[in-house]
Amino acid sequence: MSDLDRRLFGTFVEHMGRCVYTGIFEPGHPSADERGFRRDVMELTRELGPTIIRYPGGNFLSGYNWEDGVGPKSQRPRRLDLAWYSTETNQFGTNEFMEWSRAVGVEPMFGVNLGTRGPDEARRFIEYCNHPSGTQLSDLRRLHGHEKPHDIKFWCIGNEMDGPWQICRKTAEEYGRAALETAKVMRSVDPTIQLAACGSSTHDMPTYGVWEDAVLEHCFDQVDFISLHTYFENKLDSTEEFLANSEVMDLFIKEIVAVADSVAARKHSAKRIMLSFDEWNVWYKARSIDDLRKPGWPEAPRLIEEVYNFEDALLNGGALITMMNNADRVKTACIAQLVNVIGPIMTEPGGPAWRQTIFHPFAHATRFAHGRVLRPVIESPSYTAKTHPEVPYLAASVVDDESTGQTVVFALNRHLSEEMEIRIELRGLGQDRRLVESLELHHANLKATNTKDAPNTVSPRTNPDVRIDGETLVARLKPGSWNVIVSAAGERR
Ligand code: AHR
Repeated sequence: MSDLDRRLFGTFVEHMGRCVYTGIFEPGHPSADERGFRRDVMELTRELGPTIIRYPGGNFLSGYNWEDGVGPKSQRPRRLDLAWYSTETNQFGTNEFMEWSRAVGVEPMFGVNLGTRGPDEARRFIEYCNHPSGTQLSDLRRLHGHEKPHDIKFWCIGNEMDGPWQICRKTAEEYGRAALETAKVMRSVDPTIQLAACGSSTHDMPTYGVWEDAVLEHCFDQVDFISLHTYFENKLDSTEEFLANSEVMDLFIKEIVAVADSVAARKHSAKRIMLSFDEWNVWYKARSIDDLRKPGWPEAPRLIEEVYNFEDALLNGGALITMMNNADRVKTACIAQLVNVIGPIMTEPGGPAWRQTIFHPFAHATRFAHGRVLRPVIESPSYTAKTHPEVPYLAASVVDDESTGQTVVFALNRHLSEEMEIRIELRGLGQDRRLVESLELHHANLKATNTKDAPNTVSPRTNPDVRIDGETLVARLKPGSWNVIVSAAGERR
């Protein structure tokens, strides 16, 4: 049993493709407010319910000058963005993002550039953002219209610094040293912050594990988190293999916990480094070179606009279950990204915004998962996948909220042809339990998608096949389905 840190349900806004421009920010759009923020996207973001949002990148971060994005807009430079071969207009920057995140009620998670820059830029940036007043940089923020400090609590020290694609990639030694010194100066400016060091950019990297060990060897005492990133692919075009990815994610988490704890052991330290799974999602359909860059340094090109299908939503549900079941160590996580760029929300410039299939399991988790995660004992038949020897057909997580008496079961039936009857013993969770709500996400076609013209093809419905029988909850889950069952105690024991 462990407390669920609600920052597990974060998302990510990068200056990439149309995530910022024509995603969250589109002056002139019929729904835009006076700041150019699309109200339709703000509404969908509130419904999605993320708790924390990572910004401004991603790979973009490693070439970004934060100074370019503050102050009078007419004076902001246009720059080549070498991460995505685009032109960055800088019409949206730190202060706009802070206003936007406040408007949608989400905590910011910022990154500092450890590619082209380093500790000096980081200390200046945090002084601009978090120092109250009386210094050149804090007063510059005030001059820019933000009297009060932004008080940004969570900071990522760089992004994917092990990746050959990264602007100014570093070795683990170089990065570990730089992360240590960056963390020290940032904490000197604001001792209340939390800091995340970069882990491997995927668990397939040749230096996986060794990287985390070497990086933490240097900066263990100064950081709170190590990051994990994963993008699920349907490499074999097999749904069963694809859905096994959330079990591989579970191994990934446990391996990084083991590496972090072995560094702690070597240092004779009782400190535990927590995990920030700050990029995760399905991404494989829109991953060709043509999806990643367009010729001619365009502004806000259509990059990696993955159209999600129903099986992608199932896997994302499985990933959420995995992360909730590891809530003792995974304290923050970000589905990447929020809008258009591998996003749960899609928009058309000048047109509508709609929910992709993957929107739904995430919105269920943010809406219903409050309290503490119970350790479920699950008995389920399983299958063997190429990437994992034992994949239970049933994946489930149980979250209990003592303050409301509600207990929520998130359940994924990975069996693609058979219904599953689940029986859940609720003993010890209070008497006279009643069913509050029972939702399912199911579609007969695993490849079904939501589009601009048919935005609700894959949408949650009530599952009538759920009942409470004494202290047992009994539910029939459709083959290939994501389910949320909410029950409440009449009276707590
Ligand atoms: O989310 C898209 C990109 O994937 C990010 O910029 C990078 O960090 C990762 O490789």
